[in-house]
Amino acid sequence: MTAAVTRTVRLGGALLLIGWLAFALASAARAQTPPPDPFEEGKQLYLENCAVCHGLDGQGRVGAELAKDWPSIRPDLTVKTIIENGVPGSVMPAWSAAKGGPLSPAEIEALTQFILSWQSSGAPQITPPPTATLLPPITPVPEIEGDPNLGARLFAQNCAVCHGEHGQGRVGATLAKSWSGIRPDLNLRAVIANGISGSQMPAWSAARGGPLSEGEIQDLVAYILTLNRTSPALLVTPAQPPIPGAVDSPFSGWGGVAVLLALLVVLIGGALLLQRRKP
Ligand code: HEC
Ligand code: HEC
Repeated sequence: MTAAVTRTVRLGGALLLIGWLAFALASAARAQTPPPDPFEEGKQLYLENCAVCHGLDGQGRVGAELAKDWPSIRPDLTVKTIIENGVPGSVMPAWSAAKGGPLSPAEIEALTQFILSWQSSGAPQITPPPTATLLPPITPVPEIEGDPNLGARLFAQNCAVCHGEHGQGRVGATLAKSWSGIRPDLNLRAVIANGISGSQMPAWSAARGGPLSEGEIQDLVAYILTLNRTSPALLVTPAQPPIPGAVDSPFSGWGGVAVLLALLVVLIGGALLLQRRKP
């Protein structure tokens, strides 16, 4: 083996070592990441579950104003109890797992603290989550008025919280199903516009004090009627947002870059070696 080739192979070895070291260090650092900030967690939960009715900064919409002072000695208990149990006779759902809701005690605690942060101190500005994710266009069901693509966005903003991201059902009924009747679209439009009295399903039409126009309701109808064509596999696994730092492959991050670089150097060294051997 010539000196040059030996050097190339040694360089490769050294880089390989550096790569694995960097990877090990990165893994260790990841393991030590502190638990998420409860305020940030509360804010996220609020955006996902409550902003649809209570407004982005708690100013109230279908639901009551929350950015206010709570006249109570223990406002935290007041707010927590309401979130846990809902407000019977109104559209405010019960959120605690004990009452059949989707949230854990820790999540309700985080939400309570977030809502109380609006007291007197003034409402912190929160930015809405990005909703403009690029999705494949949805083919409309023939002869149904409305734009299912606009409907999908409205659904994510207003309905997914109760009916699940793909209409698979959560606090609210399953909507990804086949709708019986000769004109299911008319039926759906009436239910969405007027709500279902005595249940948590609010009335959405502007005519009934809701936030949506007739056109928007028609877009929602067009979207909901496409849901039963979606693959069943999609319906049971709601898409999870990617968790930063959770990708634990040896080929991610700088460690991965160094490992790949080292493999390249070793390959080149090997190739050179073979070439020199040739008579
Ligand atoms: C479908 C709409 C809707 C959703 C979603 C919703 N709420 Fe409500 N909420 C309401 C309505 C309506 C009221 C008022 C009920 C009443 O007093 O008649 C209310 C009342 C409340 C109150 C009591 C307000 C007061 O002044 O007493 C709190 C606290 C509250 N909601 C928290 C939450 C939290 C936290 C979430 C998310 C986990 C949430 N709500 C989600 C509709 C909603
Ligand atoms: C606070 C929770 C909540 C929100 C938000 C909500 N719904 Fe509902 N929805 C329900 C519940 C609960 C039912 C079942 C009511 C019953 O039948 O007792 C329901 C029923 C329905 C039904 C009738 C289902 C059937 O099988 O007949 C339709 C359609 C519907 N919702 C559409 C929507 C649309 C569209 C939106 C968004 C604009 C929406 N819902 C938002 C709770 C909600």
